[in-house]
Formats: sequence, structure tokens, C-alpha cells
Amino acid sequence: MKAIVVDDQGAGTAGMTLVDRPEPQPALNDVVVQVYASGFVPDELTWSPTWTDRIGRDRTPSIPGHELAGVVTAKGYGTTGLEVGQRVFGLADWYRDGTLAEYVAVEARNLALLPDDVDFTVGASIPISGLTAWQGLVTHGRLRAGERVIVLGAAGAVGSIATQLAREFGAHIIGTGRGAHRQAALEFGTHEFVDLDHDTLENIGNVDLVFDVIGGEIGKRSARLVRTGGRMISIVGRSEEQPGEGTAIDFVVEADRSQLSELVERVRDGRLQTNIGIVAPLADAVAAFNSTERRRGKTIIRIQS
Ligand SMILES: NC(=O)c1ccc[n+]([C@@H]2O[C@H](COP(=O)([O-])OP(=O)(O)OC[C@H]3O[C@@H](n4cnc5c(N)ncnc54)[C@H](OP(=O)(O)O)[C@@H]3O)[C@@H](O)[C@H]2O)c1
Repeated sequence: MKAIVVDDQGAGTAGMTLVDRPEPQPALNDVVVQVYASGFVPDELTWSPTWTDRIGRDRTPSIPGHELAGVVTAKGYGTTGLEVGQRVFGLADWYRDGTLAEYVAVEARNLALLPDDVDFTVGASIPISGLTAWQGLVTHGRLRAGERVIVLGAAGAVGSIATQLAREFGAHIIGTGRGAHRQAALEFGTHEFVDLDHDTLENIGNVDLVFDVIGGEIGKRSARLVRTGGRMISIVGRSEEQPGEGTAIDFVVEADRSQLSELVERVRDGRLQTNIGIVAPLADAVAAFNSTERRRGKTIIRIQS
């Protein structure tokens, strides 16, 4: 099968190459999926699971990409819950070969059914951003209607979904980002927008929850705005500043079938829009990831048409 591999951690996306690789075999409780569309987060190339297995042994050349939408072609021993021929989408294991390939082996529990009326490209854009936003707001953030929320990077891939979900759940959202993101953030549903280059973040006053996708100094200043009993939720590592009387939580997104189903239902009925940027075929994937143009939204690689 055709697949993109990496074997040089220092080379970044420039080290990606399109090669022929053996098709994966399904392990216990796995399915093999023919990948129609794949999502890739450039930061993956800095994560240790891209390069090693769970006990730290080198596993290069490895196939990056962890979001997929496709069709089940085989089942492993003991696999239940999915059948050959079903359309699925979800999240591949960080420590195994990924989805920038014609086929991938994934534990069935990490996938959900993709309804017939949701395109594979859209399906592949949901898992990381959608699950991260859901888990940050609901699982870890315990967001309640009426709460005031800062979404840092509200026009980005995760931030735009966090904004839409927080709005649906009845929160008051203060979106932030660069000045050029104001219009997009408002269209995704923020009630107010703070231009981080020109406005004063501190003018917002206290909030119940901060959803941090940026970190650094902006994350630290945001943490100081968390009210007593509030939550500082970070997806970019441990917050450098602990909120005084609030709770700080950082987490890594996990696969969850029921949350994937909640998300795709919202995409279907128009409550949720994913933030898709470039869509490129596998043959052009390396060039797409190495483009010098400013990237907006998620890059999706369409592997099968
Ligand atoms: N822990 C987890 O499980 C998890 C899951 C998903 C993602 N992540 C991480 O979360 C981060 C965000 O992911 P994403 O996919 O949402 O990225 P993204 O689409 O690039 O969104 C980030 C947004 O924040 C904006 N931004 C960044 N720095 C800024 C600054 N200093 N001032 C103003 N705006 C700024 C970006 O604007 P520009 O594009 O103009 O810079 C962009 O709009 C990444 O580091 C990713 O690796 C973690």
C-alpha cells in the first residue's frame, strides 16, 4: 500500500516520504480500515509516540496521522461492534502506525459509525478537534449553562469547535486570537472577541473556565482570570500559572465512541461545523504539509475518492 513515513525526528515535515509499505494485519479487537480521508496535526512529529512504542523502543519508520474516515475491510480475533463494509471514523492509537496510508489497523472501540450523509473528508476532520473540545468542556471542564468561558485561539481547529459546543451548552463565550480571526470567531459563536495583540485580556474580568490551546504568557495571564471554583483547562501541557482558588487540568485527548457519535450528529444537523483548510490527495500530501503558505484550519488528505 502507499503510505507516508517518517524516520528522522529532526527533519520535521520535510522528512516525510511517500513509499510502499505492507498492508497492516488486524490484531486482537482491531479492525483494518481502508482510509478514505486522513487528518494530521503537524505537532505529531514532536510527540514521542510518533517515534517509539509504549516502552520507548524505536519504531521508525512510522506512519503519522491519527484521524481517519474510511471503510472497514477486515476484523481481528474477538472484534465486536463493527462489521466489514461499514463506514467509520475515529482516532488511531498514538503508538501505532497511523492514517496517512491506504489502510490502517485500529482498535474497533476507537471508532464510531460515520453516517452515509457525512462525507469522509468531514469525518476525518472531527476526531482530534471534536473530541478535544468535548473532553475539555464536558469531561474535564464540567461546563454549565450561564458560565463565562474564555476560548483562547477561538478561530483555530480545536477552538472553533469548543466555541460552538460551549455556545450550544449555554455558556457566555469570550473568544480570543489575532485581530484577523475576529470575524471567524464571531461566526463560530463567540459573544465577544479579544484581539490578543491589541486588546487587554485582563479587561474581561473573572471567568468560570479558560480553554487554553496557546499556553505560554497568554495561558498564564488567562489563568489569573479564573474565579474561585473555576477551571483552567489546557491542551498544551501543564499551565505555568495555577489559578488561585480554581482547578488546573491538562489532558491528552482520548478516543471515545459515544462522544464521536454525539459530535457527528451535530455535524449532520448543522449545529457544528469543522474547520477544514486544504484538502489534498495522498500524492500531494508531503507538499501540502510543507507549504510555505499560512495554514488555516485542518489539512485533510483524501486517500481514496
Ligand atoms: N492535548 C491534546 O489532546 C491536544 C489535542 C489537539 C490539539 N492539541 C494542541 O493544541 C494546540 C492547538 O491545536 P489546533 O489544532 O487548534 O491549532 P490551530 O488550528 O493552529 O489553532 C490555534 C489557534 O490559536 C491561534 N494562536 C496561536 N498562538 C497565538 C497567539 N500568540 N496570539 C493569538 N492567537 C494565537 C492560532 O492563530 P495562528 O494560526 O495565526 O497562529 C490559531 O487560530 C496545538 O499545539 C495542538 O498540538 C492538543
